[in-house]
Amino acid sequence: MFSQKVIENLSRSSWIRAMFEEGEKLRKIHGPDKVFDFTLGNPDPEPPKGVKEALNNLVLEEKPGMHRYMNNAGYPDVREKLANQIKQESGVEVTLENIIMTCGAAGGLNVVLKTILNPDDEVIIFAPFFAEYTFYIDNHGGKVVVVPTNMSTFEPDLEAFKNAITPRTKAVIINSPNNPTGVVYSEEVLKKMAEVLESKENEFSTTVFVISDEPYVKLVYDGVKVPSVLKIFKNSVVVNSYSKSLALPGERIGYIAVNPAIKDVALFTAGMIFCNRTLGYVNAPALFQKVIAEALDETVDAEIYRERRDMLYNHLTNLGFECIKPQGAFYLFPKSPIADDVEFIRRAVNYNLLLVPGKGFGCPGYFRISYCVSLETIKNSLPAFEALAKEFIK
Ligand SMILES: Cc1ncc(COP(=O)(O)O)c(C=O)c1O
Repeated sequence: MFSQKVIENLSRSSWIRAMFEEGEKLRKIHGPDKVFDFTLGNPDPEPPKGVKEALNNLVLEEKPGMHRYMNNAGYPDVREKLANQIKQESGVEVTLENIIMTCGAAGGLNVVLKTILNPDDEVIIFAPFFAEYTFYIDNHGGKVVVVPTNMSTFEPDLEAFKNAITPRTKAVIINSPNNPTGVVYSEEVLKKMAEVLESKENEFSTTVFVISDEPYVKLVYDGVKVPSVLKIFKNSVVVNSYSKSLALPGERIGYIAVNPAIKDVALFTAGMIFCNRTLGYVNAPALFQKVIAEALDETVDAEIYRERRDMLYNHLTNLGFECIKPQGAFYLFPKSPIADDVEFIRRAVNYNLLLVPGKGFGCPGYFRISYCVSLETIKNSLPAFEALAKEFIK
């Protein structure tokens, strides 16, 4: 009666629901403060003051027409402001014509993929990856090609990348700062990837788009700089959102920035604006386009997350967990002390610790901790991690 594919995909992602239900059950038994739920990437800080002020002002101002349809790409004044900011930050001559406002990064990714994919075109993603990519690629008839990362850095394995590119490769999705590892790709690796791509594009006479999914770009620590993808890759598209940087995931606001150097960029952009409309998004939420235009310089205080990272990272590594120190985003991705990461997170539930298996990110043998919980909760969870380590790390 229903789409077979949807039913299959639903069961593939059923562990998310299972974890959620487990959490609800435990909270009822032990009380919410005794359950340490590290599963969701749902920012817990409130949006910055400037965002709330902009929202209040806009609502009180009540300009006529502010709730109407607009150009499917979004308000020109908002796109212009954003283009200026991107130009300043990247040094690339981006204009409002290169910006499309979207319903978050998820909406943006679907719009880009819909616009470029023909049936069975291949899209490369790097494991571990944000699991939704596989569904987005499938939504538009593409084929997922998973390429491993270098396990000591979690940056793309360049040799494997080179070998994975075929005449059918249409796009590569990169995500830095990364969910689930927190790694920021270095300029050196990105430049090498650009060389590999250019030589393969020449060999096959193809265009391969680099889709840079960047919702965590403002959440970096220790002065780390995220290299500009627009500067490094000619055929690049940045997909970004304010879900994490302004803690607004429920408001569904983001954008696509297209590299003006892409051949036929006007046609490409027109295609994406059409897809934004026909995928049913129509346009990004009107009110929040205006809000973010007033708050472009705002970011949630990354220090909040850095403190949490340090507390968890120091504790876990002291206990003997192997883990790369994240430079951004709000996740840790330690190695599971036993090969079966699903079994490991199942056993962690005995200590009221809710974690996500690496398997869900195409990377078995690891697990993800999302530190979108208060420092207090993290402090209270430390003995539980200690008990877990006692059971598994000798
Ligand atoms: C890597 C990555 N990309 C995209 C998204 C989707 O973000 P948005 O809420 O902007 O659609 C998320 C959300 O968690 C994410 O982690």
